[in-house]
Amino acid sequence: MHFFFWRFVRGLSLEMKEKAASVTACELDELRELIVERSGISFDAAGEGFFSTRVRDYVTEKKLRSVADLLRVVHGSSAEYDAMIEDLLTQDTSFFRYPGVFEALAKKIVPELQENKFWDNPRTLRIWSAACSTGEEAYSIAIAVADALPFAEAWRIEILATDISRHALQHAERGVYSGRCLENLNAQQLENYFTKTRHGYVVKPRIRRMVTFTPMNLSRAVYVGRMDCIFCMNVLMYFSEERRNSILQRFSECLEPGGYFLLGHAESLDGTSVRLERLVLGDCQIYRKPAKDGAIRHAVVAEGSL
Ligand SMILES: C[S@@+](CC[C@H](N)C(=O)[O-])C[C@H]1O[C@@H](n2cnc3c(N)ncnc32)[C@H](O)[C@@H]1O
Repeated sequence: MHFFFWRFVRGLSLEMKEKAASVTACELDELRELIVERSGISFDAAGEGFFSTRVRDYVTEKKLRSVADLLRVVHGSSAEYDAMIEDLLTQDTSFFRYPGVFEALAKKIVPELQENKFWDNPRTLRIWSAACSTGEEAYSIAIAVADALPFAEAWRIEILATDISRHALQHAERGVYSGRCLENLNAQQLENYFTKTRHGYVVKPRIRRMVTFTPMNLSRAVYVGRMDCIFCMNVLMYFSEERRNSILQRFSECLEPGGYFLLGHAESLDGTSVRLERLVLGDCQIYRKPAKDGAIRHAVVAEGSL
């Protein structure tokens, strides 16, 4: 009985592998083209191996026989298409993912904006976390601003957090976190900005209120108003060069003069058509839109001056 059971299990897993193996280059190309056409997301740039592995796993998970079957399913239902896209994208993120960037936010950007906008009525700070995934980036921005801005309650702090994945946004809306994503938070921040429950650490209302989560596909132009600062981390690799340039152009247009633009650690604006000033701060580089009529300058700001 035992023997037959294990033969059955082995047979099943072999069968699944065989099913998973039925991924042809031609079908993958067809799927890739469909995704570019419908969502503007280009999986070429994210790496060939990554795309085929994710598609193969998804076909197996959905108990389909081949990518041809998957193509039939997603052509027939936009809900199935959306579910596939969610699954293919990676949602890796964490609180204060690049500490140097948040240090720049707290010690350079917020004080500068505070000084420039102090006499505005109302006193507003608008920050966009574009491709916010499950919310850690947007809440880290809120925490950094709350820590850095004296009398934060006297300001209207609006953090717009957008992502294509509705599933990730639902997680973000709940604001409950546990495990490794919390690693970069110190004990003081955990105590000040979270409530510990048996489900994990829950973001306190004071921080939660600063953030608005909204679904948005970055490859479609949507008006979001003027921003003082834009975080766009670890998402540009999903777009073709042409689309990446047009998205960056849009970011640049919606930045206030003197506003800041922040990319992930391994990313830069080199080779793109966007003209923003580059500032090197310690181990990270950040970008600034020149103040009205200002010429583009690049600067290295010594670490000690942060
Ligand atoms: C690796 S996560 C980055 C999360 C966060 N920015 C960070 O760096 O920690 C990439 C995110 O980009 C989102 N994404 C991918 N393509 C997108 C698109 N066309 N429009 C909006 N979001 C997209 C994914 O859903 C995912 O949540």
